[in-house]
Amino acid sequence: MANVIVIGAQWGDEGKGKITDLLSKSADVVVRYQGGVNAGHTVVVEDQTFKLHLIPSGILYPNTQCIIGNGTVIDPRELIAELDKVEALGVSSDNLFISQTAHVTMPYHRMIDQAAEEQRGSKKIGTTKRGIGPTYADKSERTGIRMIDLMDTDAFAEQLKWTIDNKNIVLEKLYGLEPLNADDVFEEYQGYADRLRSHITDSSLQIYNAALQKKNILFEGAQGTLLDLDHGTYPYVTSSNPVAGGACIGSGVGPTTIDRVIGVAKAYTTRVGEGPFPTELHDDVGSLICEVGAEFGTTTGRRRRCGWFDGVVARYAVRINGLDCLAVTKLDVLDGLDEIKVCVAYELDGDRCTDLPSSAAQFARCKPIYETLPGWKQSTEHCRELKDLPEAALNYLEFLAKLTEAPIAIVSLGASRDQTIIVEDPIHGPKRALLKENTSAFKVMA
Ligand code: IMP
Ligand code: MG
Repeated sequence: MANVIVIGAQWGDEGKGKITDLLSKSADVVVRYQGGVNAGHTVVVEDQTFKLHLIPSGILYPNTQCIIGNGTVIDPRELIAELDKVEALGVSSDNLFISQTAHVTMPYHRMIDQAAEEQRGSKKIGTTKRGIGPTYADKSERTGIRMIDLMDTDAFAEQLKWTIDNKNIVLEKLYGLEPLNADDVFEEYQGYADRLRSHITDSSLQIYNAALQKKNILFEGAQGTLLDLDHGTYPYVTSSNPVAGGACIGSGVGPTTIDRVIGVAKAYTTRVGEGPFPTELHDDVGSLICEVGAEFGTTTGRRRRCGWFDGVVARYAVRINGLDCLAVTKLDVLDGLDEIKVCVAYELDGDRCTDLPSSAAQFARCKPIYETLPGWKQSTEHCRELKDLPEAALNYLEFLAKLTEAPIAIVSLGASRDQTIIVEDPIHGPKRALLKENTSAFKVMA
C-alpha cells in the first residue's frame, strides 16, 4: 500500500496524464486536488485518445474511484461535456466523485477572466480564459459558490441573486459588458446540479476511509510547480497550488497520509502563456521540438514555447515538492538533434546563480549557462529497457539525474502506454532521502 502524489516539475504539460494513467493501474483511488478546466491531460489507450480536463485519468480503469477534490474549481458545463464525451467512448462515470466543497465556476468568472486579460494589455498573464483566477478569487474573498451550495436549490437561488447583482456592477461598470440575468443563470445551473447530484460526496471522508482500508491512493496534480500561486513565477502563474503540498489541502488529508512524491519533467522545457522562460529557444531547434513534440495546448490549442531542459527549475521542483524520483517524458522528441543543451545555472547581473529568484524582474534577467551534450541521432521510441537506449541518451539521463539529485524512475518515449521504460519501481523503490547518503542518483537507477 502506498499513497503517492504525482506533480509537474516544470510549467505544466510534462506528460502527467500518461504517468498517472500508468500508475492508476495499481491505484484504488485517484484524486485530482487543484485547478480546473484550464488543465489538459492527453491519454492514449490503443487507438483511442482521451483529452481530459477535470476528470482524473483513473476513469479509464473500471474499478478505480476517481475523486475531484475540494481544492479544484469546477465549471459544471465543461465537466458535463467531458462526462458526455467519456461516456460516448464507452467509459462509465459511476466511479466519479465530486467534492461537495469544491468551488463552482460561474458565467461571470469566465467573462471576467477574458475581460481582465484584455484590459491588462501588455501585462497580460496569458490565462486559459476559463474563469479559473476569478473563481479562486471569490473563494478567497469568501463569496464563492460551492458544489454543496449549488445542490441546495433555495439557498442557491438566494445566494445567486445577491452575487449576480454585485457581479453585474463589475461586468457593466468595469468592463463595459452586458449584465447577466439571474433567473437564466439559475435555470442553467439547476440543470447542472441535477446532472451532477449523484456524484457529490464528502470526498475528504471518502479518502480517509480508503486510507484506513490500506487502499492505494494516487493524488494527481494539474499544471506544474512553476505555475504554483505561492512557489511559481508569480504573477505568471495559475491561481492554485499544484505543488505536492497542495495535495493535502486540496483533498483534505494530513501530510502523514502521503508516502511518496513523484515529479514529472519533460526532457526539455515548455511553457504556455506569458512570463519569463530563460531557456526558451527562438530558433529552428525550438520549432523542431515544437513540431516533433506536438507542443500545442490540449485546452486552448496554443503553440507552446519550447526550450532546453532547465536544471535550475528542475532542482527547485525537487526541493519544493520533496520529490522522491523523477519521470522523464518525451525523450524521443530529442532523437534527431546533433547536440543537446542543458541549463545548469543562470547568470544574473554578473553572478552565477543556481537557485530560482523570486522576483519576476530578476527572473527575466537570468541568462542560462549551458552545458552541451552530444545527441544520439537515432530513434528511441521502440526502446523498452535502459539497455536499449543509445549511450548518448543514457548519458543525457545520467546528467539530468546528477544535476537534479533525483533518481529517474520512469522514462517515457512516446504517448502510448507501452512506450515506457520503468527503471526503478517509482512507488516501492528507494526514496531519495536515503539515496543521497551512499550512492549517486544514477547508480541506483542503472
Ligand atoms: P489560468 O490557470 O487559466 O489562470 O492561466 C494562468 C497561467 O497558467 C497561464 O500562463 C496558462 O497558460 C497557464 N496554465 C494553466 N493551466 C495550464 C496547463 O494545464 N498547462 C500549462 N499551462 C497552464
Ligand atoms: Mg496539459
